[in-house]
Amino acid sequence: MDSKALEEMKRRLHTKWAGQTLDYRYETGSTNEDAKKLAEDGAPEGTLVVADFQRGGKGRLGRSWTTPHKTAIAMSLVLRPQIPPQKASMMTLVAGMATAQAVKDATGLDAQIKWPNDVVVNGKKIVGILTEMSVEQGTIRYVVIGTGMNANMTDFPEEIRTTATSLLLETGHPVDRTEIICRTMEHFETYYETYMNTRDMSVLKEEYQALLANMDRQVRVLEPENEYNGIARGINDMGELLVETPDGQIKTIYAGEVSVRGIYNYV
Ligand code: BTN
Repeated sequence: MDSKALEEMKRRLHTKWAGQTLDYRYETGSTNEDAKKLAEDGAPEGTLVVADFQRGGKGRLGRSWTTPHKTAIAMSLVLRPQIPPQKASMMTLVAGMATAQAVKDATGLDAQIKWPNDVVVNGKKIVGILTEMSVEQGTIRYVVIGTGMNANMTDFPEEIRTTATSLLLETGHPVDRTEIICRTMEHFETYYETYMNTRDMSVLKEEYQALLANMDRQVRVLEPENEYNGIARGINDMGELLVETPDGQIKTIYAGEVSVRGIYNYV
């Protein structure tokens, strides 16, 4: 995205606050790091950092995240929610919903969510979200939600070739990255305000479940000390995944502590 595209994005972004303070970088280390620095310096809620290329994109669990030049979307949003830190993981679910809806709107693809917040198309990952927060004396100072999207890539590193795809590969044509960023911000603003009314997923639960790729499917739960199979039965008001085990028990899975995979595939 060049500066002309930035102006265009400002024109096409119909939000009250999400993305209205916009920081575009041609190249950066990591937009999450940039957004955290801006937040430390007092950036307002809704500040969005967008970059065309990340040298050191960060993934979850200490992994790296590849953001090739101009073909991916890398963006990080600053939020300042007045909620207890243990409720912040639900904001990542909200971000996943917003991104999935934006992909649907912009491409017509059947984007779904792999709990808690990967967005997948045809069972392969197109979006990863990394949420980071700063907490002081039990209070959130800020949250940064970083979204990486495989927009127009045509190839992937060997290790993720079987589990990752891009919007270009799925639609057969390049996608308008600006459109997807704008639609994501618009959906995020609406979902986030709904979430903040109740500070839980009670109102959004049904819509989230309609997007959930794992719904009523076999999953493998990988806890630090334990692994088991079950059937995903949706989420509760706290955004935790409900998994029915073969003996009929319902286990509640909290995002962050465990991974959930498909039995045979990624989803
Ligand atoms: C994952 O591992 O699934 C999460 C990947 C998150 C990548 C995005 S790209 C924009 C933002 N900046 C980063 O350094 N990471 C996130």
